[in-house]
Amino acid sequence: MNNQNMKTIFSGIQPSGDLTIGNYFGAIKNWLKLKDEYNCFFCIVDLHAITVKQEPKKLREKILEVLAIYLACGIDPNKSNLFIQSHVSTHAELSWILNCYTYMGELSRMTQYKEKSLKVGESIPVGLFTYPILMASDILLYNTDLVPVGSDQKQHLELARDIAERFNSLYSETFKIPEPYIVQNSSRIMSLQNPLKKMSKSDENENSYLKIMDDENSIKRKISRSITDSMGVISYNDDQPGIKNLINILISITGETPKEVEERFEGKGYGELKKELTSLLIDELSPIQKQVNEFMKNKDYLEEVYTKGKETAYIVSNKILRKVKRKIGFI
Ligand code: AMP
Ligand code: TRP
Repeated sequence: MNNQNMKTIFSGIQPSGDLTIGNYFGAIKNWLKLKDEYNCFFCIVDLHAITVKQEPKKLREKILEVLAIYLACGIDPNKSNLFIQSHVSTHAELSWILNCYTYMGELSRMTQYKEKSLKVGESIPVGLFTYPILMASDILLYNTDLVPVGSDQKQHLELARDIAERFNSLYSETFKIPEPYIVQNSSRIMSLQNPLKKMSKSDENENSYLKIMDDENSIKRKISRSITDSMGVISYNDDQPGIKNLINILISITGETPKEVEERFEGKGYGELKKELTSLLIDELSPIQKQVNEFMKNKDYLEEVYTKGKETAYIVSNKILRKVKRKIGFI
């Protein structure tokens, strides 16, 4: 499971709500492309999830559901390490250490912090501010080469690289400098109700996002109500952000280029595009949903998977953590 000759990828998703097709096309689908050529660590980042308020019962359920989704999408626990972040204490530990090598100014520039802190009112949890340091720790603990994420995470990844380079130059080569893996057309799936905004599982308007677990009727309803424009031409351009978004979702499934879709739909209406997209989404998601429901009935199996994942993750990450502590001067 840990092949020394292979490079390593690390990625994670927060169990902070129902996963959307943004998570699926922006992250998980790219993991699937890479999984056989890399040592893989796929984490359920529950420590990140508590930077905004979570209800304990729901959080518990969502952590298992995210694991079930990873498995149902085709990640093999015998080949990839699947684990829950809070089970592996090295993450919180390195995060404290890296807190001391990160500047307030850097964190204040993070777009996600600026956006999320506006939403929580006057009392902003410190964790929301230091969130990118925990993410840097996740990545750096595994000598990660590549981090497959959506484009919203690019800035956090650049910070992780800066922190790693700073530490390396202060002491000596300790951390590997990770590279982002961001696939252009699927890296930012937009809201179905406001195509200028990222699709997000925490949006207050349910029609703005499609969940991986949405049933056929919800998929039909949400796609048919998705916001387009009055131009009436199926064309991939920034003046038609709604249509561009639907094309991006479509090609994430079919593998076509935007141009091929434009040609195929020449002279056709938005209704036809939406109809095809609906049926492609149903075909893509329904087998996954069936599997998720099966895995959710088998909690013993899920426990077996995350327990094994935790053990490997701890062994690998603790090696780096020990090296860090030694370099700093801890006894
Ligand atoms: P999160 O739900 O914030 O934990 O995100 C988990 C992963 O999904 C990250 O790699 C994100 O970049 C990716 N992601 C989340 N929302 C979207 C979206 N709307 N489009 C593309 N990728 C996304
Ligand atoms: N911050 C990421 C997000 O919200 C989730 C995440 C946490 C992550 N740690 C990570 C992604 C490490 C990649 C690598 O999308």
